[in-house]
Amino acid sequence: MTRILLLGGTTEAGLLARAIAEAGLPGIYSYAGRTDAPLDQPIPMRVGGFGGVEGLCAYLKAEEITHVIDATHPFAAQMSGNAVAACAATKTPLLALERAPWVAGEGDHWHHVADIPAAVAALAGPPRRVFLAIGRQHLDPFAAQPQHHYLLRLVDAPTGPLPLPQAEVIVARGPFDVAGDTALLRQHQTGLIVAKNAGGKGAVAKIAAARALGLPVLMIDRPRLPKRQVVTSVKAAMDWLHHTARLGV
Ligand SMILES: NC(=O)c1ccc[n+]([C@@H]2O[C@H](COP(=O)([O-])OP(=O)(O)OC[C@H]3O[C@@H](n4cnc5c(N)ncnc54)[C@H](OP(=O)(O)O)[C@@H]3O)[C@@H](O)[C@H]2O)c1
Repeated sequence: MTRILLLGGTTEAGLLARAIAEAGLPGIYSYAGRTDAPLDQPIPMRVGGFGGVEGLCAYLKAEEITHVIDATHPFAAQMSGNAVAACAATKTPLLALERAPWVAGEGDHWHHVADIPAAVAALAGPPRRVFLAIGRQHLDPFAAQPQHHYLLRLVDAPTGPLPLPQAEVIVARGPFDVAGDTALLRQHQTGLIVAKNAGGKGAVAKIAAARALGLPVLMIDRPRLPKRQVVTSVKAAMDWLHHTARLGV
């Protein structure tokens, strides 16, 4: 009997959950619990960490999971690494549904950095108006560059003080569109965008808006992940599910 654990938190995971529901396959959608009101999914949901690799192994056994699909954000490296380790330990088939990274084209002015500390270091210098479009989890390190005025776009309103002395918060949930993001950058007189190379369509509007306005982007490249089987479309993920289920894996 097939029983799928879908590690989610992305638009693509939502699309896959819909395909799983439409195929009538039993599955559970897992959220980390980072946002106050996670979007409803068409399959049963659970919320919260598993307790590291050990906790995930125990969960896979207790819930008799036969397939794991990791459709987390490309920067959710801890979860993805844990999934690789737990699936190897429990011999549970694992597939990653990954979006292709964005690639700079004509008109883009990207400066690549490897990670958050490198992005912080690259912000040394005179004050600027910065759209810090990286979510709310990793804001603390940017306190080392307090001279800038930061624009933040967060899914939930912050509950406590922000670590940045000059910050303005917009509460909004994607997907965003190019016209809206162009207007936003103009309105805030943004001079620089800091972004994670998330890939996909939901967050790309700010990158296209930066291109349209000729603004530079400090692009944080993706973290390295352990080797795993990867597909880039919901259809390919469904094919993998049907194929492995047919083989009795
Ligand atoms: N990182 C981003 O920029 C970003 C952007 C958009 C959405 N998201 C989504 O937000 C969630 C958290 O991302 P993150 O970067 O904080 O992850 P992370 O650093 O890789 O994960 C940290 C811990 O959070 C728990 N966790 C993460 N994803 C989970 C999931 N889908 N279900 C259950 N537990 C999960 C795990 O806890 P235990 O070790 O206790 O199991 C994991 O070890 C993910 O679902 C991701 O898809 C992340």
